[in-house]
Amino acid sequence: MSLVELAAEPARDTTAHRANQTSWSRDAVIYQIYVRSFADSDGDGVGDLAGITSRLDYLASLGVDAIWLTPFYRSPMADGGYDVADYRDIDPALGTLRDFDAMLAQAHARGLRVIIDVVPNHASSAHRWFAEALAAGPGSPQRQRFHFRTGGETPPNNWQSIFRGSAWTRLPDGDWYLHLFAPEQPDLNWEHPDVRAEFAEVLRFWLDRGVDGIRIDVAHGLVKKEGLPDWTPDPSLGMSDHQDDAPYWAQPGVHPIYRDWHQVLAEFGPDRVLIGEAWVEPLSKLAEWVRPDEMQQTFNFTFLETPWDAAALHKVVDDSLAAFGAVRAPSTWVLSNHDVIRHATRLALTPPPPQGEGLGPTSQLYPDDLVGQRRARAASAFMLALPGSAYLYQGEELGLPEVIDLPDSARQDPTFFRTGGKNYGRDGARVPIPWDVASPSAGFGPTGASWLPQPHTWPGYARDAQLGIPGSTLEFYREALAARRTHHLARNELVWQPSPDPAALVFRSGAVTVIANTGATPVALPAGRVVLASGAVGADRLPGDTTAWLVD
Ligand code: GLC
Repeated sequence: MSLVELAAEPARDTTAHRANQTSWSRDAVIYQIYVRSFADSDGDGVGDLAGITSRLDYLASLGVDAIWLTPFYRSPMADGGYDVADYRDIDPALGTLRDFDAMLAQAHARGLRVIIDVVPNHASSAHRWFAEALAAGPGSPQRQRFHFRTGGETPPNNWQSIFRGSAWTRLPDGDWYLHLFAPEQPDLNWEHPDVRAEFAEVLRFWLDRGVDGIRIDVAHGLVKKEGLPDWTPDPSLGMSDHQDDAPYWAQPGVHPIYRDWHQVLAEFGPDRVLIGEAWVEPLSKLAEWVRPDEMQQTFNFTFLETPWDAAALHKVVDDSLAAFGAVRAPSTWVLSNHDVIRHATRLALTPPPPQGEGLGPTSQLYPDDLVGQRRARAASAFMLALPGSAYLYQGEELGLPEVIDLPDSARQDPTFFRTGGKNYGRDGARVPIPWDVASPSAGFGPTGASWLPQPHTWPGYARDAQLGIPGSTLEFYREALAARRTHHLARNELVWQPSPDPAALVFRSGAVTVIANTGATPVALPAGRVVLASGAVGADRLPGDTTAWLVD
């Protein structure tokens, strides 16, 4: 369907649609909390809900509008909690439902909205339904809630897991079951009415408790092409996540599910939001996820994967605003999350990693590690000036790099094991974050325990080492978030301006001129008073790898 057709699609539930046009989320800055690595209240080395509550003042003073919590449900943690055993309970290592309610109330008391993460593509193999399916045996109705197939010695098709290896596992009784991720994450069968009914109730359970939004994990994967046909990814395109002809990504049948969920949210008033994690390209196709009667937002991973290059950034901004604008949705912007190489490291990789690939023993970094820090701040200043909603990942406001040299014995990400160590996986972006320079585990928890070891450089990035220090990354983020609000940057129209150099981008947003220099040599600064700079600026020159905001 073309953009014009998308825009012309008639809207259905008009009250909810009108609300989407004015939703709080359209210009929100949403801070992602990877719960296990944010703050540990009880000293077991694992972050928890009470730890989040204890740090809410910090988040409020940082100037974000909302927090998104990665899964905290009961889970064997085969994939960091994205293997959910019980969608209505909290994992004991992370707290209790009472802790959740307390956290939610305290966040709301500080004006922070709370978004939770729902994982509908797959459950944990420890989920009650899977146990029932195993017990009931081949051919049983209980197996129809998942994708079981009777087969021979080889898997029913050639699909590969996103974490590598076959996407099928065989049981001793001869049946195979599908898992697009780890074997401990069996895919649910969304053609089954029980699955649809159960998730509508799970959404109501959390909406009723008062959550403001739901991030939908693997939102592009729920429906598989009929017959589960063989499919061989194009190896030049990296992870199959990025390939839009896969028979398990972006099937048309996912959209009716989100139209139903849109209605479930509307039962709770006009303000609740659905956010899709859909690795779908091109942006015009991704925009189908945020048509007026579907979700409110979807992550813009095309932006995240754009190199630090003026022409590429110009294009992705134009494409994003056009694609999302055509369906009257805000664009979103994101540079880091728990699945990708932190941008303070990613932007200094030479050459950049292939799409969707992690770091590995052969990755090359610029010898000067300050390049990554400079580029990360410049890219964040560029992102935070763009119209729409922006996502921050915990620790980026401290300038944290990816931790590359974790001992193999400490690693936990299934990707590391399923690639035989060729891809380090995502643990390096998930190391517990530093708060206080002089405390054990840099203030992450009271005992010094930390489920992934922190590098010796971590205390240098601690919050208290940066708070109130002019020029620190933390103060830079605080200033950027405040100025973004003062100057309404997220709501203004972006108007490109002539640039003094091909490596620089210049745009106007209301009374603010934004200039980002992606090159290595200084360029002329536009006229105006600098209200934000990602690094030191001269009187009339903007150094390389620096972004500045100026007012008339
Ligand atoms: C999403 C999550 C990722 C997880 C995967 C499987 O991509 O962000 O962390 O491993 O889904 O649930």
